[in-house]
Amino acid sequence: MSEAFQATKIADKVYWVGAIDWDLRDFHGYLTSRGSTYNAYLVLAEKPVLIDTVKAPFFDQMMSRIASVIEPGEIEYIVSNHAEMDHSGCLPRAIEAIQPEQVYASRMGQRALAAHFHLDRESVSVVGDGDTLDLGDLSLAFVETRMCHWPDSMVSYLPEREILFSQDAFGMHLASCERFVDEIDPSIIDYETAKYFANILLHLSPFIDKALTKVEELDLPLKMVAPDHGPIWRTQDGIQQIVGNYARWSAQEPTRKAVVVCDSMWGSTVKMAQVIADGLAEGGLQVALMNMTACHRSDVITELLDAGALVVGSATMNNNMLPAVADVMMYIRGLKPRNLVAASFGSFGWSGEASKHLHAALTDMEYQMVTDPLRINYVPDGEALNQCREFGLQLAAATIGACEG
Ligand code: FEO
Repeated sequence: MSEAFQATKIADKVYWVGAIDWDLRDFHGYLTSRGSTYNAYLVLAEKPVLIDTVKAPFFDQMMSRIASVIEPGEIEYIVSNHAEMDHSGCLPRAIEAIQPEQVYASRMGQRALAAHFHLDRESVSVVGDGDTLDLGDLSLAFVETRMCHWPDSMVSYLPEREILFSQDAFGMHLASCERFVDEIDPSIIDYETAKYFANILLHLSPFIDKALTKVEELDLPLKMVAPDHGPIWRTQDGIQQIVGNYARWSAQEPTRKAVVVCDSMWGSTVKMAQVIADGLAEGGLQVALMNMTACHRSDVITELLDAGALVVGSATMNNNMLPAVADVMMYIRGLKPRNLVAASFGSFGWSGEASKHLHAALTDMEYQMVTDPLRINYVPDGEALNQCREFGLQLAAATIGACEG
């Protein structure tokens, strides 16, 4: 086994043995501009345990890092905190290479792993809330965190080192050679953690809230939070900040910020959007104007994470909204940002269905609809642009009202 890739020691007898995916740019529809890591952890207790594995193509990298500190066959246990294939993809090969005494997962994890890899259910042992794995000189406790990110999700806690192995929670898609959050530019950490939450966990906010409460009630001392993606949290300030951010993002309290999303055929709807944005700003809101010819859906949902208003515009084409707007609307619907004031607008030629369809969709998504769609025939003139400005002012007033309400 090559030892070209080395393990990184993160605490006494605890190593990072994951993989860095510098090339990842698409995580089922989420633009991962900075790549990612798939984190696996090795605890060199008397009975060594591997916590999670990596995406299938990175098996050799993980095994190389393991081999730099231990003969892989000496690992006694593998724990699968999360069955999604970025963490379990190479599990069957790892089981074959390591021949562990036991593989552990939650009840739902057992089912998911069996269904993914056509394993006998009995080949995976079930652990759950309150269970502890005796590692000889160390131990590992388990807490189920269903739907953070999948039904099988659980976290593992190493009490002797006060390390929480948190699987997807508190992670980010960020490839780096640095293994700790405090070694990386804080503005990058802030952006990538928010983008990760918005694109992966936002629709699961009620479950995140429940999991945070559950872990808080256990009152576990935390020296380190080690997620399955991106760098590790090891400062008290950092841990408090990310836990606080998760609580805030889950609550989704409205703010004085509007996101204007649009696409145009010949520029009229974008011109409307620009004047609406000016009206929103004049009315007291921070504004992000996102033309879908230039912006990615995953950046739109990131902006919506701390917004109070969503304003969507599309020209009408073939009796419908433009494809790029339909794409982002479907993405927003799935990730379910809440507590938004909303409205639609658009230029049209003869029938003008797009803004009506958008209004219906936004209503169906249970947003606070402030006004009828603003529809302008063909190219907006001065009077039409004044209407756009008034539309922006009206939406800003409603958003401030929602923030204060
Ligand atoms: Fe990183 Fe839900 O997998």
